[in-house]
Amino acid sequence: MRKKIVAGNWKMNTNLQEGVALAEKVNEALKGVTPNCDVVIAVPFTHLASVNAVIDSAKLGLGAENCADKKSGAYTGEVSASMVASTGATYVILGHSERRQYYGETSAILKEKVGLALENNLTPIFCIGEVLEERENGTYFDVVKAQIEEALFELSAEDFGKIILAYEPVWAIGTGKTATDDQAEEMHAFIREILAAKYGEAVAEETSILYGGSCKPSNAAQLFAKPNVDGGLIGGASLEAESFMGIVNAF
Ligand code: 13P
Repeated sequence: MRKKIVAGNWKMNTNLQEGVALAEKVNEALKGVTPNCDVVIAVPFTHLASVNAVIDSAKLGLGAENCADKKSGAYTGEVSASMVASTGATYVILGHSERRQYYGETSAILKEKVGLALENNLTPIFCIGEVLEERENGTYFDVVKAQIEEALFELSAEDFGKIILAYEPVWAIGTGKTATDDQAEEMHAFIREILAAKYGEAVAEETSILYGGSCKPSNAAQLFAKPNVDGGLIGGASLEAESFMGIVNAF
C-alpha cells in the first residue's frame, strides 16, 4: 500500500525563532496521536538543523524546499543535497513551480537535483503542474507528462520508487482557487497511467501522488477521499499548526 502523506511547504516564511516555535507546535500536536498519514514539514535551509533538534523524527519528517544541482564547490550561495542531509532532513521538495517560474529551473537542472538528492538518501517530493493558460487551452495532460518524462524517466525503477510526486496546478497555488476533487483525481489517475506504462503497475501503485494548491482543512477530506490522491503538499495552511493539523486529521 502506498503511503498517505501530508507535507507542509513553508516557502520563504518565518524567521528562525518563529519557525522553531511552529515546528514545536506541530510536534506537540502529534504527541500521543497516530495520524492516518505520514506528516512532513519542509522548511527554509536556515531552519533545518534547529528544527531537527526539536522534533520527534519518528512522527514528523523534515525536508528542505530545494537543493543545488551541483555536488559541491564554487557555487556561492547554493546549498547541496549532502548539506541538507547533514542537518537530519530526509526529504527535499524539487521542481516547485515557484522555482521553475522565478528561478528558471528547467527539467535538465531538475534531473541533476533529483539524482543528487537520491545519492544523499533524500526523498524527493517532485512537483509538477500546469499554468492557467495550459489548463484553459487543454494541453495540461501533455505538460505534466513532459515534466515527469524529462526529469524522472531516466531513473531506474528502483530509484523511481523512492520519489513522491506532487501535482500542483499553478493556477491553484496561493490563489484560494482549489482544483476540484474531480480535477485532481483525473490528473492523478492520468499520472499513474503514465507511470504504469513506463515502470509497470507495481511501481505505479506504490507511488504516492500528493495534491497541492489552496488545500485547507475545509476541502482536504474531499480531495483525500479520491482513490488516486494520496495526500497534500500544503503552503499557506501549513503556517499555522492548527490549520496544518486540520488537514492531517482530514485523513
Ligand atoms: P498553497 O497551499 O498556499 O496554495 O501553496 C501550495 C504549494 O505551493 C505547496 O507547495
